[in-house]
Amino acid sequence: MQSMHGTTIGIIGAGAIGGALIDRLLSGAGAGAQDIIACETKDPRREEIARRFGVRTTGEAADVAAAQLIVLAVPPLEMREVLGVIRDRVGHRPVVASFAAAFPLALLESSLPQGTPVVRVNPNSPSLVGAGFNPVAYGRHVTGAARALGERFLAALGTAVEVDDATMNQYTALTAVGPTYFLPVFDAMLAAGIASGLTREATVAAVVATARGTAEMVAQRAETPDQLKLYTGLRPLKDAEVRELVAQALADALSRMTALQQKIADAARGA
Ligand SMILES: NC(=O)c1ccc[n+]([C@@H]2O[C@H](COP(=O)([O-])OP(=O)(O)OC[C@H]3O[C@@H](n4cnc5c(N)ncnc54)[C@H](OP(=O)(O)O)[C@@H]3O)[C@@H](O)[C@H]2O)c1
Repeated sequence: MQSMHGTTIGIIGAGAIGGALIDRLLSGAGAGAQDIIACETKDPRREEIARRFGVRTTGEAADVAAAQLIVLAVPPLEMREVLGVIRDRVGHRPVVASFAAAFPLALLESSLPQGTPVVRVNPNSPSLVGAGFNPVAYGRHVTGAARALGERFLAALGTAVEVDDATMNQYTALTAVGPTYFLPVFDAMLAAGIASGLTREATVAAVVATARGTAEMVAQRAETPDQLKLYTGLRPLKDAEVRELVAQALADALSRMTALQQKIADAARGA
């Protein structure tokens, strides 16, 4: 993996995902604390970020705009305000990467000066350990060195898959929200294994290896997951209920993003 060392990175919004990004950049992507400046509006969180990571911090989005890579990790409905702040400060053509769910690539591009290289990506939480599966849509001006920088950045987070911007909400419901569908199952299996008398360490190793193996089996075999269940004798989970629960959760995630995208479009039209 290529290192992010020496690239100046400005992060606007150091909340859950912005903080996780700083963690990953420092722990697994070769970036130095001196390469990163994070904008966070709340004093206690700003102090926590500075203390925990040793990066430079600021309360003003404008202060990070001089970076070579600007990452927007603010809530989707705050994007217009933040884009308005940096619009006149990106004449040096930094790569601007947006993490905001439901915020279309075209709106990102039209909110910044003509020619700005913009990237829309929805990183999922395994990006924290470089194992993300992250759908990305590149703007028209992401070419040459800008493209190389965008790809280097995304490689630090895991696998980036280029997708049509119009499908980003569907990908987000599966991949960015996806870990929350699996985590309760991990939680339940860990609790059950420990309750049965295994150590926590042994249980984690067994459950994680089993999950990885199951994923590999689904990836490599032609049978559907339902058919693959034939290889195990017991069926303790109520299959129809699991299917219904996940389908409902996915539909909820998608409809929330569609509603959010409509709100963003309405706000942009009223501008
Ligand atoms: N969490 C995830 O797993 C995930 C995954 C993919 C994409 N995303 C996207 O990442 C973005 C952030 O999500 P999150 O979960 O990290 O949310 P979060 O924890 O609420 O963090 C948002 C951050 O943005 C800051 N902020 C809000 N308005 C701002 C403004 N006008 N100027 C500067 N900073 C501002 C907030 O500061 P205050 O606390 O002071 O308000 C907070 O630090 C969202 O657009 C979300 O769609 C999140």
